[in-house]
Amino acid sequence: MKKVRVRLGSNSYDIRIGSGLLAKTGQQLKEIGFSDKLVIITDPTVNTLYGNILHQSLTSEGFKVTILEVPEGEEQKSLDTVGSLYNELSNFHAERTTPILALGGGVIGDLTGFVAATYLRGVPLIQIPTTLLAQVDSSIGGKVAVNHGQLKNKIGAFYQPRLVISDITTLKTLPTREISDGLAEIIKYAVIRDKELFTFLERNLDQIKSLDEGLLEEIVSKSAKIKAEVVEKDERDLGVRNILNYGHTVGHAIESASDFKVGHGEAVAIGMLAAGRISSKLGILNQNELIRLKDIIERAGLPIKMPSLEVERIMQAMEHDKKILRGKMRLVLPKSIGNVFVTNEVSPSLIEQILVDWNEEA
Ligand SMILES: NC(=O)c1ccc[n+]([C@@H]2O[C@H](COP(=O)([O-])OP(=O)(O)OC[C@H]3O[C@@H](n4cnc5c(N)ncnc54)[C@H](O)[C@@H]3O)[C@@H](O)[C@H]2O)c1
Repeated sequence: MKKVRVRLGSNSYDIRIGSGLLAKTGQQLKEIGFSDKLVIITDPTVNTLYGNILHQSLTSEGFKVTILEVPEGEEQKSLDTVGSLYNELSNFHAERTTPILALGGGVIGDLTGFVAATYLRGVPLIQIPTTLLAQVDSSIGGKVAVNHGQLKNKIGAFYQPRLVISDITTLKTLPTREISDGLAEIIKYAVIRDKELFTFLERNLDQIKSLDEGLLEEIVSKSAKIKAEVVEKDERDLGVRNILNYGHTVGHAIESASDFKVGHGEAVAIGMLAAGRISSKLGILNQNELIRLKDIIERAGLPIKMPSLEVERIMQAMEHDKKILRGKMRLVLPKSIGNVFVTNEVSPSLIEQILVDWNEEA
C-alpha cells in the first residue's frame, strides 16, 4: 500500500492506494476514530460489484451500515438528487458525526461530497473512488459540486474528505473508455509537473493498459501526490491550482460544442495537444516534445485528430465559458514536458487559426 498525505492544516488527510483495500475499510475507519453508524452512497453498477465487499468489511468491525443508491449518470449531480438524499439521511437519523462514504466514480464523489458538506452544515466525508479518473483527480482536493441549469459544477464547496481509499483492484472492472479518461488526467499531471512520470508512461503504457496492478498503483500514487502538492499550495483555486486546467480550456469547449458527444478524456486529450501546438507555434515547446505528447496520447487510446466540429462553435463555447477575458485567453501551455506556464497573452485568433489548420489536416 502507498500513502499520500494531503497537508492542509486541520483539514489534512491521507490517500491510501493499494490492491484489496476495500475489504479493509472497516479497520481503516476505526484507525481514524470512527465507530457506530455510517452511510454509503453509490450507484447500481458499483453497488453490484463492490457494495457487498464494503458492507462486509464494515459490519465485521461493528458498524451499522445503510446503503443509498442513486442512478448512474452526470444528471444525478443535481439539487433534486441532493434533496432526496437529505430526506433519506434524515430518515436514517444521520447525525453530525455520521460519516458518509462515496463509493463510485467522480459523479458519486462530487454529489456525495456536496451532500456531506451541507447536511447538518457538514458531516465527515470518506472518498472511495472506483474509477481511474476519480482515484487520480476528483476524490482529491475537496472540490464538491452539483450542476444547475447551465451551471456545470458551479454549485458547490471546498470540502475536504477525512480519508481517501483507492483500491486499485476495483479498476479491473472498468470499461476501456473509463481507463482512457483516467489516463488523460495522468498524462496531464506528467506534462505539468513530472517528466519522469512521462517517461514512465512511455515505457510502461501497454502493461498499464492491460491493468497491471503494480503499475497502476505506481501511477495512481504519483498522480495523487502531484495533485496533493498543487492543492496544498492553493486549496481554494486562486492561483497555482490553475495549472490543473492544462488541456481543459479547449477541452471543455469541445465537450460542450459537441453536445457532450465527445467524452471528457477525449476532449482533454485534444485540449492538451491544442495547447502543445499553440506553445510550439509560439516557439516555446520543441517539436520533438510535441511529437512525444502526441504519441503518448495516441497510445493511451485517446484521439489525436480534431473531432469534426465547427471551429466557430468551439470558440463560441470558450467565450461562453468565460475563458476569454477582455479579448485574451487564459491558457496553460507546456514549456517542456514536466513544466507548464499560465498565460493571458494568447489571442483567440491564434487559437482559432491553430484549430482551423489542425481541422484541415484531419
Ligand atoms: N471534484 C473534482 O475535482 C473533479 C475532477 C474531475 C472530474 N470531476 C467530475 O467527475 C465526474 C466524472 O467521473 P468519472 O469519470 O469517474 O465518471 P462516473 O462517475 O460517471 O463513472 C463512470 C461509470 O463507471 C461506472 N463505474 C465506476 N466504478 C466502476 C468500476 N470499478 N467498475 C465498473 N464500472 C464502474 C459507474 O457506474 C459509471 O457508470 C464528472 O461529473 C466530473 O465533473 C470532478
